Amino acid sequence: MSDKLRTQEGQPWSDNNHSLTAGERGPVLMQDYELLEKLAHFDRERIPERVVHAKGAGAKGTFKLTHDMSKYTKADLFNGVGKETPMLLRFSQVAGESGYPDTIRDVRGFALKFYTQAGNYDIVGNNTPIFFVNDPLKFPDFIHSQKRDPKTHRRSNEMQFDFWSHSPESVHQVTYLMGDRGNPASYREMNGYGSHTFKWVNADGEPCWVKYHFISEQGVKNMTDEMAAKIASEDTDFLQNDLFDAIESENYPSWKVMVQIIPYEEGFHYKSDIFDVTKVVSHHDYPLIEVGEFTLNENPENYFDEIEEAAFSPANFVPGIEASPDKLLQGRLFSYKDAERYRLGANFEKLPSNRPVVPVKNYERDGFMSSGQDSSVNYEPNSKNGPKEDHTAHIQPYEVAGKADHYQAYDQDFYSQAGDLYNLMSADEQDRLIKTIVTNLGSVHDENIKKLQTEQFYKADPVYGQRVADGLGIKLDLD
Ligand code: HEM
Repeated sequence: MSDKLRTQEGQPWSDNNHSLTAGERGPVLMQDYELLEKLAHFDRERIPERVVHAKGAGAKGTFKLTHDMSKYTKADLFNGVGKETPMLLRFSQVAGESGYPDTIRDVRGFALKFYTQAGNYDIVGNNTPIFFVNDPLKFPDFIHSQKRDPKTHRRSNEMQFDFWSHSPESVHQVTYLMGDRGNPASYREMNGYGSHTFKWVNADGEPCWVKYHFISEQGVKNMTDEMAAKIASEDTDFLQNDLFDAIESENYPSWKVMVQIIPYEEGFHYKSDIFDVTKVVSHHDYPLIEVGEFTLNENPENYFDEIEEAAFSPANFVPGIEASPDKLLQGRLFSYKDAERYRLGANFEKLPSNRPVVPVKNYERDGFMSSGQDSSVNYEPNSKNGPKEDHTAHIQPYEVAGKADHYQAYDQDFYSQAGDLYNLMSADEQDRLIKTIVTNLGSVHDENIKKLQTEQFYKADPVYGQRVADGLGIKLDLD
């Protein structure tokens, strides 16, 4: 019975190879229900890809807490040494479409979903601790500059450097991207970062600031541009294949979860703005503290159901973890679920990878593709014993002050940390960085963009900028 072909409605399917025709040489009949259904379903197979981070790969695993964090946060997953929390991780490229080669230089996404006893907690980070812009108003423009030219439909260094050279806050991340870590050897051999500063709150209501670091236990390895170009022509899915094959052969990758904890009041007076995602917080000032470890040990059974339909969101917090005033983060709190309602529909949270492991009880109902609802009371207030508010999720109240306005970033020093990053690199890495920049910026036609961008590097560090200028053969008239 089970091996017999059935339609979506369960009816026996008589012929899957020959359409129903009017006579042996005649036209196909409208009456061919199986044919029409099969074509109609096929016509609807593709859904919108993610507007960014469209190409990616994911796997399931477990997070194990090795150090109790209850002093800092009441979040379920970080309380009680030894606690294990199931999780999903999706790695991705940012700019390319879903079929784009994996080894093109780009930031890599590092999105985690923890299925905690207090609901889903997501950290939607990257393999870089910083980002290109710090205001959500600039994000769509930034992404347009990374995607394809509206006329030629090509990706264009001209567009990318035009945006970056006019956005000084990006120079730190551009330095990171053009450096060795801009092209990881595998998803397994790169670190991940929450990038933003978040707020942790303990059971006594005491807040602190936290930054997440996920340190690869496989070590950090990168590939040169030459290797990347060779691989791109041989295996467009190189990073995806490496992850899948490692897990399939039980070579499970793992990462240490570390945090930087910044005392609440101190955070407002740190030497750089901790709410500006273009900046890092020094490990000397706030050292990494070990929290736990996660291991990926299960490939998806079905890529589309479990990875393509996975929906991560920086707005998925659990009690004990809250947003910070980081403007970029605040914009992200809206954008992800909005994109997912468009990409997957109003009931995307009921799809397998998005469903929490704890019951869902609220007054939201119906919508496209709803199923499995009970008929319990669907309004509040009610006298029908409907679910009540859970005040464990009450945010830690905090002061806000000042005049509503469109403010510039509080900290306008976008250069010193980019210069520090350049100086942290070995001489070899600096050479490769300059070569990569000169190759990419060198392909830009507009001399003004080249000059503006080189000035950004010069302001980060005069030696850095001068080396780029020499490589490009341009003269800077700064000092
Ligand atoms: C205002 C700034 C940003 C906006 C508006 C934004 C918006 C988006 C949107 C709409 C998606 C697609 C979501 C989906 O369809 O499921 C996405 C994906 C993603 N974003 Fe952002 N983003 C921003 C900044 C960032 C930053 C700063 C990071 C990292 C620190 C980041 C990391 C990611 C990752 C990793 C994904 C892919 C998630 C997955 O694997 O499904 N984004 N972003």
